[in-house]
Order: sequence, then C-alpha cells, then structure tokens
Amino acid sequence: MTPSRFALTHFPGARSERMGIRAEERNPLIMNLRDIHTPVLLERCVELLGPALESDDALLVDATLGMGGHAEAFLDRFPCARLIGLDRDRDALRIAGERLSRFGDRVHLVHTVYDGIADAVASVGLGAPTAILFDLGVSSLQLDVADRGFAYSRDAPLDMRMDQSDGITAAEVVATYGEGDLRRIFERYGEEKLAGRYARAIIAARKEEPIERSGRLVDILVAATPHAVQRAGHPAKRVFQALRIEVNRELAVLEHAIPAALEILPVDGRIVVLSYQSLEDRLVKREFAAVSASTAPRGLPVELPEHAPRFRLLSKGAELATEEERAVNPRATPVRLRAAVRIREDA
Ligand SMILES: C[S@@+](CC[C@H](N)C(=O)[O-])C[C@H]1O[C@@H](n2cnc3c(N)ncnc32)[C@H](O)[C@@H]1O
Repeated sequence: MTPSRFALTHFPGARSERMGIRAEERNPLIMNLRDIHTPVLLERCVELLGPALESDDALLVDATLGMGGHAEAFLDRFPCARLIGLDRDRDALRIAGERLSRFGDRVHLVHTVYDGIADAVASVGLGAPTAILFDLGVSSLQLDVADRGFAYSRDAPLDMRMDQSDGITAAEVVATYGEGDLRRIFERYGEEKLAGRYARAIIAARKEEPIERSGRLVDILVAATPHAVQRAGHPAKRVFQALRIEVNRELAVLEHAIPAALEILPVDGRIVVLSYQSLEDRLVKREFAAVSASTAPRGLPVELPEHAPRFRLLSKGAELATEEERAVNPRATPVRLRAAVRIREDA
C-alpha cells in the first residue's frame, strides 16, 4: 500500500487523487447502466438542489458518484453546472467517467473517501460547491454486477470493500474477530436480534473450515436461524449489512463527512442526503439538527446574530419514496431523504 493511497483512504486531510477518463478502459457495462440502476428520488433531488445549480458558477459535488445516474441527470438539466464526482470505488469512477465523458471538462472525478470532500474540492480548484449530494450505501454495480461479496443472494468471495485496494475484507473480519466483537457489530450495525447466536455459529464453523465465500456464510447463518424466524425476511440480511459497515467504516466516515460538507457550502448552497438504513439517517438528522438550531443560551431575551441557525431544513423530517417509485424501483423502498440550505456564514 502506497502512503498516498493510505492517506487517501483514511484521512480527511490527505490529498485526493484526480482520475483521468481513459477511453481505453471502456467497459461494456456502460451499455446497461440505465437499465440496471434508476437514480433514487431523482425528481425530488432536482427540485431541492436545482435552485443552487442555475447560475454560471454552479458546482455540484456528487459525493457518491456510483455509476453516475444522478450526476448525468443533473448535468443534462443544468447546462451551466459543473460536477465534481467522488467515489472510493475505482471501478465506479471508471464506469461513471465513461458515462459522463460527453460532458467533457464540466466533469472532474476524484478517487477519495467522502470525508476527504474538502480536500477533493480544493484539489480541483473550481471554488466552493453550490450543491452537494450524498446517495449513501452500495451501488447496483457493487451489489448486482461485480462479484464482490456484498449480496447474500449470490455466491462470491467475501470481500465487501468498496475500495478493493485498501482495508480488510469481510472474510478477514469473519476469520479474525472474537465472538464478542462479531456480536457487537451484528447488534450495532445490523440491529440483529440473533447477533450472539450468529457470532457463536461463525466461530464454530470457522474452526472446521475458513469462511471465504458469501455462500458459505449464508449457509451458516441459515442453519443457525430458528425456523420461526426464517419466515421473517432473509436471515443473512442484517449480518451482511453489519459486515459491510464494519469493513468500510461507513458510520465513522459519514460522521466526519456530513460536517465537512456543511462546512464548505456557501450561503444559498444546498445539500441533499439519501440514507438507506436508520443508523445513517439518525446521524444525518443529528448533524442537520445541530446546524439548523439556534445556539443562543436559554433565557437570552434576544438572539444574537452569531447564535442564529446557519442552515434551514428543506425537508420536513425524513422524506420517503412514493408508493409509485417503490413499485418501479425497489431500491427506493428504504430511502430517507434530508435536505438543507445554508442561510448564513459562520460567525
Ligand atoms: C448508492 S451508490 C450511488 C449511486 C449514484 N447516485 C447513481 O445514481 O449512480 C453509492 C456509491 O457511493 C460510494 N461510496 C460509499 N461510501 C463511500 C465513501 N465513504 N466515500 C466515497 N464513496 C463512497 C460507493 O462506492 C458507491 O459507488
């Protein structure tokens, strides 16, 4: 592992790496992108971020570029806007880069974990973003296409790293963590009621043979699940979510990324976050609440300017996808949208 890659992946202060769009890396997947991934809550995202993307200096940071579905729609609809797309997954950047190549120099892609958002934006040198989008979680590419071990529905090497060049794999977590640690991550990140039972089953199974593929892990979890519980959703769902969060340090990274993103938005700058599980959404809710509340001490008769909220919430609570959208795009089912606009500079 090179020092710069280590820095890129783990430290918000690290330099980000600009990605070139290389024609020779063309990928046949690009042909199917529009079929396999429909951007979630696209129209609502356009409605919320649109007012910040009309002017000549409009700059959207898509902090989770994925396969570029949202990004492409924004570039089409806001002809003045430029885009900085971030992703920790080099495959996603390569494929999205190809998809967005028709927009030429309006597009800049940066390989970084999104808590490096401030450095990534500075490295491109286009000034402050006027809009920021986070569409959290895994992409259709990671889930459906690449054999990366994210999906419990298909057998693959148990990897689950979004950046395959760095960090430990899910197989290593399963092979090396003690029973207490496995139980803790299943409870905390999977909100799994059978966490202790699954942790014990894994420890017993790995003594027989290493657990290197998702299929074997699924078999172990299914065998450890009481029949009555098996009827209530797939037994592996929450454990797989927990392992993915642990491997990619998702919550720790998000906890730094949201304040960093809010920090770099100028007045009138807008932010939208799409979360897919309650732990992420709670974290986003907490950060948005902190910046949209007055910091005036209780009992102060008049609010001083430096105590006034810095952001105004644009969403009322967490917004959900409509029945219609869920029907055509099942990925939208668990989504929670929160949005805010900056209304004043820091004191
Ligand atoms: C749900 S997908 C985004 C899909 C995209 N909006 C589209 O329409 O194609 C999420 C993407 O965010 C990336 N990602 C997740 N966590 C990240 C992080 N901490 N830093 C950078 N990228 C991350 C994943 O690699 C994945 O490609």
